[in-house]
Amino acid sequence: MLDVPKSNEKSHADGKILQSIQDGVGVITFNNPDKRNAMSLEMWEGLGSALTELRDNPDVRVVILTGAGDKAFVSGADISQFEKNRHNAAASEEYSRRSDAQRALLASYPKPTIACIRGFCLGGGMQVAMLADIRLAADNSQFGIPAAKLGIAYGYDGLKNLVSLVGPSWARLIMYTGMRIDSAEALRIGLVERVLPGANLWDATMEIARTISVNAPLAIKAAKLTIAQVLKDESKRDMAAIKQISTDCMDSADFREGRTAFMEKRKPKFQGR
Ligand code: COA
Repeated sequence: MLDVPKSNEKSHADGKILQSIQDGVGVITFNNPDKRNAMSLEMWEGLGSALTELRDNPDVRVVILTGAGDKAFVSGADISQFEKNRHNAAASEEYSRRSDAQRALLASYPKPTIACIRGFCLGGGMQVAMLADIRLAADNSQFGIPAAKLGIAYGYDGLKNLVSLVGPSWARLIMYTGMRIDSAEALRIGLVERVLPGANLWDATMEIARTISVNAPLAIKAAKLTIAQVLKDESKRDMAAIKQISTDCMDSADFREGRTAFMEKRKPKFQGR
């Protein structure tokens, strides 16, 4: 089981989304292990609330997304709700509007995000994982997008992220077959950045999160913003925003602190300004 921090724990969606903070690291846990953390609409909305609160909390420098238990990160959208909420195009429109809005928060998240994945990461779980900045996975993980097995289209945003991570050919193989791939294959094709033994996954994830949380927030924001612009079509790139964040960094108290700390042979203490 994951040693997810219990400090400052808060919950949304009847306890199915948990939110906690430890050492500047925000943690969001998908917490419906009996259903392999399948996401109901209420959970999507709870995810949105947790993301918003952690985004607006100045003490939080980085956010980890993970699943409760050792069987799943997220096994996709909760299929048991489909008959009521997603049974045809009109119903699906409303369902998508409500769940897309929460994923949009993650897509434009100003702080770094890490998906800590063990077990099944399927369908909507892949959407969440692919929206995170970094994916770390346990060696028992399984990845897949079974849309073709259900008869649904996966949508532009999810496929854009899939193609940008694994390329169009692997995206086609994954989508046409609906097959599941293991962690080793996911690592090889660039879907995840690192695979760890399950027992080490949480500590390794926290170590990376803590490393990020003591680095200069503005410099990380500059990297995140600039990489996002690199991924856009050239005609849509906001070069002025890249220039502005670079100016902000060079004029920041943190840059002064960074270079002074180096010369004084001590650890810098960054404040994000
Ligand atoms: N939606 C709703 N319920 C789900 C679910 C989902 N996406 N994934 C799992 N569950 C439920 C199962 O119905 C089962 O419920 P039950 O105990 O009431 O029978 C429970 O979670 C455990 O699942 P089970 O299939 O028995 O576990 P498993 O470990 O053998 O397999 C999965 C796990 C995730 C591989 C399998 O449940 C599965 O294929 N789920 C659907 C995945 C999917 O299609 N996702 C995309 C949705 S768009």
